[in-house]
Amino acid sequence: MATTLDAAERDYFTNNPPPKDLKANTTLAREFIGRHADEGRRVVLVTSGGTTVPLETQTVRYIDNFSAGTRGATSAEYFLENGYAVIFLHRQFSLLPYSRHYSHNTRSFLDFMKEEHGRVVVDEQHQEAMLRVLRQYEAMKRDNQLLILSFVTIGEYLWNLREVAQLMQPLGPKAMFYLAAAVSDFFVPQDRMVEHKIQSSEEFSATNSDAKGNTLARPPAARTEGRSLVIDLEPVPKFLKQLVDTWSPDGIIVSFKLETDPSMLVKKAQYSLNKYAHHLVIGNLLLTRKWEVVFVSALEGEKWIRVPQNRRTKSFSGVESMVGAADAGREKQDSHHSIIADQGA
Ligand code: PMT
Repeated sequence: MATTLDAAERDYFTNNPPPKDLKANTTLAREFIGRHADEGRRVVLVTSGGTTVPLETQTVRYIDNFSAGTRGATSAEYFLENGYAVIFLHRQFSLLPYSRHYSHNTRSFLDFMKEEHGRVVVDEQHQEAMLRVLRQYEAMKRDNQLLILSFVTIGEYLWNLREVAQLMQPLGPKAMFYLAAAVSDFFVPQDRMVEHKIQSSEEFSATNSDAKGNTLARPPAARTEGRSLVIDLEPVPKFLKQLVDTWSPDGIIVSFKLETDPSMLVKKAQYSLNKYAHHLVIGNLLLTRKWEVVFVSALEGEKWIRVPQNRRTKSFSGVESMVGAADAGREKQDSHHSIIADQGA
C-alpha cells in the first residue's frame, strides 16, 4: 500500500510541473524558517482557502473548492498572538489575517473612514476595534512573524506544501501544520489537459492538443461531446499520508474534515485520524462551521467546542466571524486548545 502511495506521489510531481513562483517562494520560506528557528520560535504553516482545478492550460474554466479563508486567516491571528511564526499559504485573494476585518465585506473599507479638516481619519465608532487590530498587526510586523504565500490551483498548493514542509522538517516538533485549506480531491492531470479554451460547439472543438500543438496521448479529461461538456477527473493522491510519514515526521499535524451530512462527520474524522495517524482532526459541518467544531484526537477522543449561543449573532454576523474553536476553547482552557496554541515550547 505504502509503495502504491509513494508511486502516486512520485508520479504526481513528475507529471505535473512546478509553478513558476515556487523557487521564489522556497527562497523566502527558507530565510523565514531559518531566522525564526535561530530565535527559538515555533513555526506553523497555515493553509487557507480553496484550491482550483483548471480544465484548460490557458485557463478560462475551472472547478473550485468552497472556502472563504475565514478559518485560516482568523486562526493565523491567534497563532501570531501566541508567539508562533506563521507561514500563511492561502488562495490568492481569499481572506488575510488582520485585513480580513475590513475586506470581503459588503461595506467598503472607505466606510470606516471620514474626512476631518481635509484629512482622512477613522470614524469614531470604529476607532476602538481598529486600534486593537492595528496594535496586533504592528506587533506582528515588528517581529516579522508572518510570511504570506499564495496558490490558486491544486498543483500550486501541493508543490508549495511539499517544499515548505521539507524546509520545516529540521524544526521537529517546533513545526506545526494547520491544514484548513479546502483541497480538491479530483483533478485534470497535465497529460490530459488541453491547451486552449474548450469550445461549446463540436464544430470548433479541435482542442485535443497541448501547448506545442501535439495531440494529447490520452483523451482530454474535459471535452465537449455533442452539446454536453464531459468532465472525467482523476483522484488527487492524499498527501496527508506523505506529510505525516515523510515530509515532516516529527511535526505536529492538524487536519480539517469538512462534511455536510452530520452523521458522517465524526466517523470520517476518526477514519482520517486512524488512517494517517497524525495529532488532531478538526471536524466541521458546512452550515455550522462558524460556531461549532469537533476535535478528534487519539489522546482525548471526540470533543465538541461550541461558541455560546449568546455570542453567535454578535461574533458571526459579519466580518467578526472567528476560528470557532479558538475563542470558545480559550474560555474553557481545554487541553485541545493547548495542542493548537501552546505546544512545542
Ligand atoms: O474558509 P472558511 O470559509 O472559513 O471554511 C473553512 C473550511 C470549512 C474550508 C475548513 O474549516 C475546512 O474544513 N477545511 C478542510 C476542507 C477539506 O479539504 O476537507 P476534506 O474532507 O476534503 O479533506 C480532509 C483533509 O484531507 C484536509 O486536511 C486536506 O488537507 C486533506 N487532503 C484533501 C485532499 C487531498 N487530495 N489530499 C489531502 O491530503
